[in-house]
Amino acid sequence: MHTSWSELANPEVRTLTPYEPGKPIEELERELGIAGAIKLASNENPFPPSSAVLAALREALPSLNRYPDGSGFYLREALAKRHGVSADQVLLGNGSNELIELLLRVFMRPGEEVIMPTPSFVVYPLVTQGAGGTKVEIPLREWRLDLSEMARAITERTRLIFIANPNNPTGTIVTADEVRQFMGEVPERVIVVFDEAYYEFAQGPDFPESVAYLREDRKVVVLRTFSKIASLAGLRVGYALAAAECVGLLNRIRQPFNVNSLAQVAALAAVEDEEHTRRSIAAVEKGKQDLYRQFRALGLTYVPTRANFILVQVPDAASIYAALLREGVIVRAMGGSGLGGALRVTIGTPEENTRLIAALRRVLRAESQ
Ligand SMILES: Cc1ncc(COP(=O)(O)O)c(C=O)c1O
Repeated sequence: MHTSWSELANPEVRTLTPYEPGKPIEELERELGIAGAIKLASNENPFPPSSAVLAALREALPSLNRYPDGSGFYLREALAKRHGVSADQVLLGNGSNELIELLLRVFMRPGEEVIMPTPSFVVYPLVTQGAGGTKVEIPLREWRLDLSEMARAITERTRLIFIANPNNPTGTIVTADEVRQFMGEVPERVIVVFDEAYYEFAQGPDFPESVAYLREDRKVVVLRTFSKIASLAGLRVGYALAAAECVGLLNRIRQPFNVNSLAQVAALAAVEDEEHTRRSIAAVEKGKQDLYRQFRALGLTYVPTRANFILVQVPDAASIYAALLREGVIVRAMGGSGLGGALRVTIGTPEENTRLIAALRRVLRAESQ
C-alpha cells in the first residue's frame, strides 16, 4: 500500500490555499522575454534603502562568518527608545509575518477562535487555519473594518483579534475614537493585535496611538515592519511591541537567530534615518494624488487610501491584470478576496506610476473594443 505525502499531512494544512506572493519582476521578464518590467504588487517602497543603510550593510559584510546577535540588543534598544517602552517590550521578527505566526502558536489552541476582517491580510486566515484555529472573518463595511461587528463576534473561545490598520488591500484606517470605543467592548482576556505595517504613511491626528494601550496594561500587541517605509522588504525584519511577559513567552518558541545580522544592522541604521522616512512619505503622498487624478480621468473609482497602495475598481480584474502583465506591469488582482472587480496597485516612483497609467489606458481601451 502506497501512502501519499498528502495523506500524512495535517488536514488543516492539506486544505490550505498557499499564499501567493506578488509576481517577481525577474519571473515576468523570463516568461515574456522582455527587460524593464515594473512591479507595483507587493506594497514595497519603490526607493532603495538610504545611503546610510547601505553604508552600514557594507561595513557589516566581513563579519558574516559570525552568527547574529540572537537577542538583537542594539536594535531593540533603539526601538524601545523610539517608542518610549523598555527593551524587554520589543520582539524582533523575520518580518512581521513571523510574529503573526508566533502569536498564534503561543496564544491559540486548536479549535479556538481568531477574529479577523475580510478582505484583509491573507496571512491571518492562513496561519490561523494552519495552526488548527477557527477563523471568524468579519466582512468590511464600506471598505473599512467593521469594529462593532468584530466586537460582537467575541465569544468565550475568542483568543485574538487582528486589526490591520491601515487595512490591506483597501488602505482604509480605523480612527483613534473608533478604536477607543472598540477597546471598551473587548474583554480584558482577549488579545488585540494592531498590525500597523503601513503606520508611517497613515499618520494624522485621527490615527490611533495603539502603544498607549500597552501603557494601560491592556492585552495588546503592536506590529510594525521595516519592509515598507524603510525599503528593507528583502531583508525581512519586523517587530512587536507588547508587555514584557508576552514578549518572554513569544521568545520561548522563536528561532534563536530569526533576524539575521544584515537585517539588524540595516534596521538599526534605518531607525535613525528620518530623512528617508520623510522623503518616502512625501513621494507616496505625491504619487497618490497623481494616481487619483489619472484614475478619475480614466473613469475608474478607487478607495481613498492611507497607505502606499490603492485599491482601484476595474471592469474585469483578472483579464486586466493579465493584460497589464503583457505590458510588463505587475499589479495585484484582488479576485480571491471577494473584490472581484478590483486591482491593488502599489504607489511607485513617478516613472513607474506614469508607466502604469499608460499601460492601463491601452488595456482598458483594448478591453472596451
Ligand atoms: C497588513 C500587513 N501586515 C503585515 C505585512 C507583512 O510585512 P513583513 O512580514 O514584510 O514585515 C504586510 C505585508 O504586505 C501587510 O500588508
